[in-house]
Amino acid sequence: MNTVKIFKTEDGSHTLFNEKKNEYYHSIHGAVQESKHVFINAGLEFKLSQKESINILEIGLGTGLNVILTLMHLNSANAITDDSILKSKIKYHAIEPFPLAHETAIELNYCEFLDVPHLKDIFSQIHCAPDGYEISLTETFDFARYLIPFQDYNNMETKYDLVYFDAFSPEVEPGLWTEAIFSKLASIMEPEGVLVTYCSKGIVRRTMQMCNFNTERLKGPPGKHEMLRAIAMP
Ligand SMILES: C[S@@+](CC[C@H](N)C(=O)[O-])C[C@H]1O[C@@H](n2cnc3c(N)ncnc32)[C@H](O)[C@@H]1O
Repeated sequence: MNTVKIFKTEDGSHTLFNEKKNEYYHSIHGAVQESKHVFINAGLEFKLSQKESINILEIGLGTGLNVILTLMHLNSANAITDDSILKSKIKYHAIEPFPLAHETAIELNYCEFLDVPHLKDIFSQIHCAPDGYEISLTETFDFARYLIPFQDYNNMETKYDLVYFDAFSPEVEPGLWTEAIFSKLASIMEPEGVLVTYCSKGIVRRTMQMCNFNTERLKGPPGKHEMLRAIAMP
């Protein structure tokens, strides 16, 4: 049984508390603040400055916050151009072995907090998307969720430009921060693909380096000293 409770973080946005793991899904200093800092600014903006259309893999879909923030970022980048040929496109695959109950997902306050009430329907679609099938959330954003542990994921058709590595911490989910996992990720990423994570532990950084990633420590979000960005070497 995977029991989760909604909790309001310091910036006013929701997160979840997983009672079994005794861990929050985001920083209690601000869920939206943390996700924007780690995944959108250090990951998405960085990669979109190098490549127009990209494939993203998220390890741990959880609340779906990173999907909605990514879609918002894409929409505002694309709003600048009228020409449909020039628009950036995103394919977003998310892994989640413990999907949220729909009743819980629709209680999360992200669309109100981010002032995008028109995305409520899309937010709901994220949480009832079929397992393993791509759906188009917008004309420039395709999404699929895979309801399995990443250890069992074997879609080798898509190569990823960007990985949001948002698993629970190494203390509670040690099996996801291993050489086997980072080697598997390296094998399904494009050369120069980017992986971002909130975790900056030395052991995690050294494990990534053993798997052919170049790592850099970046300033962390409020409440956290550092985060990691890793580039897959060709
Ligand atoms: C830190 S929380 C999720 C954060 C999420 N990105 C969000 O914004 O809500 C970690 C997520 O990883 C999921 N998870 C647990 N084991 C996993 C596994 N083996 N593979 C992929 N995801 C896993 C958990 O169920 C949880 O939803």
